[in-house]
Amino acid sequence: MRIDIITVLPELLRSPFEASILKRAIDKGLVEVHIHNLRDYSTLKHKNVDDYQFGGGAGMVMMIEPIDACISKLKAEREYDEIIYMTPDGDTLDQPMANRMSLLTNIIILCGHYKGVDQRVRDHFITKEISIGDFVLSGGELAAAVVSDAIIRLIPGVLSNETSALTDSFQDNLLAPPVYTRPAEYKGWKVPDVLLSGHAANIDKWREDKALEHTQNRRPDLLE
Ligand code: ADE
Repeated sequence: MRIDIITVLPELLRSPFEASILKRAIDKGLVEVHIHNLRDYSTLKHKNVDDYQFGGGAGMVMMIEPIDACISKLKAEREYDEIIYMTPDGDTLDQPMANRMSLLTNIIILCGHYKGVDQRVRDHFITKEISIGDFVLSGGELAAAVVSDAIIRLIPGVLSNETSALTDSFQDNLLAPPVYTRPAEYKGWKVPDVLLSGHAANIDKWREDKALEHTQNRRPDLLE
């Protein structure tokens, strides 16, 4: 998979891909992440990429020309499955969406800033708009990193134990059951006996029951 991220703040998008699972996925060649500085596509003297809104109103708007220049250059080099715009009024990211996107080959993610992008960008270039929740961030960069992380960890071969993504919360519409590690007793607080029993079937049953109980308590909407 290849992810091209277009941003006015490339420095915000470096560290998420330089550590842990995402770094390993890149090092293994399972994903390529390319960060593009939108200012490099501005033809204006001061490399501006935003301008005042027509009709007046507070806040600047990202201009169509540099965005067109960057997207068109990328599209001339390869085909893209989706051109995504990160925006609080997009479809809310969830696990089924991440699962579907992990199967794509090439995607572009455009990060919004200021008051957002000229509507013509959304009308003519964007194929999918994604929000990471009902709150407003200063820009789309952190949201793009969240989406990238959610997708990349699902690419086959990225997680060392392939089953661990299958047992994540939200796969099967259930939250994950509790987990424990050594010591088996700490300050008198004990790990449930069944997990120490070595009885695989009983352990599976306990995990299923706990996942259901936890989902009923925390997120009953997932069971409807
Ligand atoms: N940009 C600003 N807020 C956002 C959000 N909640 N989701 C995606 N992109 C955003």
